[in-house]
Amino acid sequence: MSDKPKILLSGVKPTGAPHIGNYFGAMKQFVDLQDEYKPYIFIADYHALTTIHSAKELHQNILGVALDYLAIGLNPEKTALFKQSDVPEVAELAWIFNCITTVPYLERAHAYKDAVAKGREVSVGTFDYPILMAADILIQDADVVPVGQDQKQHIEYARDTAEKFNRIFGETFKLPEAFILPNVEVVKGIDGQKMSKSYGNTIPLFASRGEIQKLVMSIVTDSGADIPQNVYAIHKLFKSESELAKLYEDNKGKYKILKEALIEDADTTLAPLRRRRQELAKNQSTVLKIVAEGGKVARARAAKKLEETRRKIGVVLES
Ligand code: ADP
Ligand code: TRP
Repeated sequence: MSDKPKILLSGVKPTGAPHIGNYFGAMKQFVDLQDEYKPYIFIADYHALTTIHSAKELHQNILGVALDYLAIGLNPEKTALFKQSDVPEVAELAWIFNCITTVPYLERAHAYKDAVAKGREVSVGTFDYPILMAADILIQDADVVPVGQDQKQHIEYARDTAEKFNRIFGETFKLPEAFILPNVEVVKGIDGQKMSKSYGNTIPLFASRGEIQKLVMSIVTDSGADIPQNVYAIHKLFKSESELAKLYEDNKGKYKILKEALIEDADTTLAPLRRRRQELAKNQSTVLKIVAEGGKVARARAAKKLEETRRKIGVVLES
């Protein structure tokens, strides 16, 4: 057996400030696993282009995600941190995959079906989103992909696409595994629904103490219950259930005390990340250099895989 570290790959779209659902559901795993795996972590800017059509906004958000990644503790010495658009080979591979993918198969994607159900006029990019994501993953020969539960179907699309290509053109792509932690697969928001940027129910990862206070105080509580479930669900992200047992037992029905404890515990975890982000923001050129360097590493690896793929499909001519 080879003792080469396995490849871990994941990305986050630069679509706005990350929240604690993104962090506990996915981003924290990137940091926790960076010694065990060889990580490739990127800013999914071409995926964000499906929804953001302001150059200024996209540009700012990209820089924002770079800062977020470094602030949570990604170490560029261990992790190739890059921008998706710095690896254009991904778009070429996505085209090749498009040619072996059927329309009805993509029509089954949850995100596409939701958009259609909402009466949206869906762009070709949105329709093809899972194939671009499959190319991100397969071009780096990723073994594991840490994500939240909502991305599970996309990883299945990547596996199916790898299998189909391998069946048609011969063994080429590795089948990736989703890495989803059971206790944080769906982090709930302050209204008890799935926490999501699009639902306005988030606690931003880099919120100030004042913002955390305001948001926690507005967590919806079900009057009458001993344990306010929505408070507890968020609290257990910051403290183990055994640590929380006594607090919640001693303060049955005392929502204010429990919310104050949550504010304290959330701030203890989040304040150091917030401070690190503020420091990093003062040094933008260093951040840009890290992302550019990571891009070179990721691109070199992708180029090799694409070359192998081009050979497999028969477009490389040699005398
Ligand atoms: P959002 O739904 O807020 O727009 P993204 O689509 O940018 O979030 O997701 C970035 C990462 O965070 C993905 O891996 C996704 O699965 C994960 N994630 C998003 N929301 C949650 C949540 N509420 N609980 C757990 N993981 C989440
Ligand atoms: N679709 C992911 C999201 O919405 C982002 C993403 C794009 C991604 N490409 C990826 C995640 C490849 C993991 C691997 O969060």
